[in-house]
Amino acid sequence: MTPLATSELSVRATVMTPLAAGGTAFHRDAILHVGPDGCIRAVVPAGVGRRAESACSPVLDLRPALIVPGFVDAHLHFPQARIIGRATGPLLSWLTESVFPEEARFRRRDYACSVAAELLTRMLAAGTTTAALYSSSSARATEVLFEALRDSGMRAVVGLTLMDRACPKELAVGVERAMRESRRLIRQFHGHDRDRLRFAVTPRFAPTSSRALLTAAGRLAADHQLLVQTHVAETKAEARLAARAHPYASSYLDIYDRAGLLGCRTVLAHAIHFSRRDYDLIAKREAAVVHCPDSNAFLGSGRMKLEPLRSREIDVGLGSDVAAGRSFSMRRAMAHAYDNALALEAPVHPEALLRMATLGGAKALGCADLTGSLEPGKDADFVVIPVSRVPLTLDDALATLVFDNDDPNVARSYVRGRRLR
Ligand code: GUN
Ligand code: ZN
Repeated sequence: MTPLATSELSVRATVMTPLAAGGTAFHRDAILHVGPDGCIRAVVPAGVGRRAESACSPVLDLRPALIVPGFVDAHLHFPQARIIGRATGPLLSWLTESVFPEEARFRRRDYACSVAAELLTRMLAAGTTTAALYSSSSARATEVLFEALRDSGMRAVVGLTLMDRACPKELAVGVERAMRESRRLIRQFHGHDRDRLRFAVTPRFAPTSSRALLTAAGRLAADHQLLVQTHVAETKAEARLAARAHPYASSYLDIYDRAGLLGCRTVLAHAIHFSRRDYDLIAKREAAVVHCPDSNAFLGSGRMKLEPLRSREIDVGLGSDVAAGRSFSMRRAMAHAYDNALALEAPVHPEALLRMATLGGAKALGCADLTGSLEPGKDADFVVIPVSRVPLTLDDALATLVFDNDDPNVARSYVRGRRLR
């Protein structure tokens, strides 16, 4: 199945997008032109350049509808797609009681195949066009996920979840085997289809990683210039476990830093229980953070502060963190992030939330040159949101997108100009 659009596409609707140079573009009535290569040619207010428009393919008129960049879900777990809502938190008991038994099922290829299909359907229905996924520790399940993503046309970063201690033995994979299997998956899938699929080095978190595993993971990432994704400082109990497992380190982040896992291609999920020094180190290493507000609420993990990240210009993406998060919808994630910021008495504007759910996530994942905003030259990754009336202003469109998000969530999802849903 070719992932490229085979002909030109022009769609007409209200268009709203963050811009790489800053700010947000809002066109009440515009035409998005996509070339045969799946790249955006232009976003033109309707009625402007009529002659140029008519020279292109017929215009698909979707009004009233809102077109925004495809959402970037910068953190979620493939093998947890069937266990949303298991209320066995906080984090450590939820992992033991609900997550690990489910993840053990992914050694079976047929089980992994059926969940992968469900996951893709649900992500695309939510308008997610780019995802950063943790697989289980099974290389077979990870291969199944990569194959499903390859065939779907979606954009994704996928990691084999690395864990070799303090977990059920059926999930633990030793350093040598984990590195061997990682290298095989890199050869098979990393960079597939002009970088649409990429492999990420994915140590689950410090408590389930030996120092040798973290060091090998750091080396693997450096050898192949790979993205690193992991969890950090989600709960205080987890931080205590991490300190016990890695007594040589001066802080939670220092565990990763010593292993060469903290750099400009590192994406840290949660990042809640941090000191000023920790934020400074993240900024110094140019690592990125993924905010997972619904997960933080569901597991009672705490409230992540945006301000220390934004003031240090740290890239921030948004994650559903399914299955600790209860929805695949990045629209819901934006609303949860708004509520969280308000509760901290540090309100965040919905415009910043739209950026986080699109371009911010793309920057965090290192693919902002390809996706995350609707600007000429980028791949045409966009979603069509049904609205009951044409939004009149930017604030009107943001209110609808972020807060008025009952079903249907998105009507259509496109990657590189090809309709995937
Ligand atoms: N920390 C380690 N593993 C996990 C996970 O699967 N989900 C969340 N939310 N936190 C984690
Ligand atoms: Zn997670």
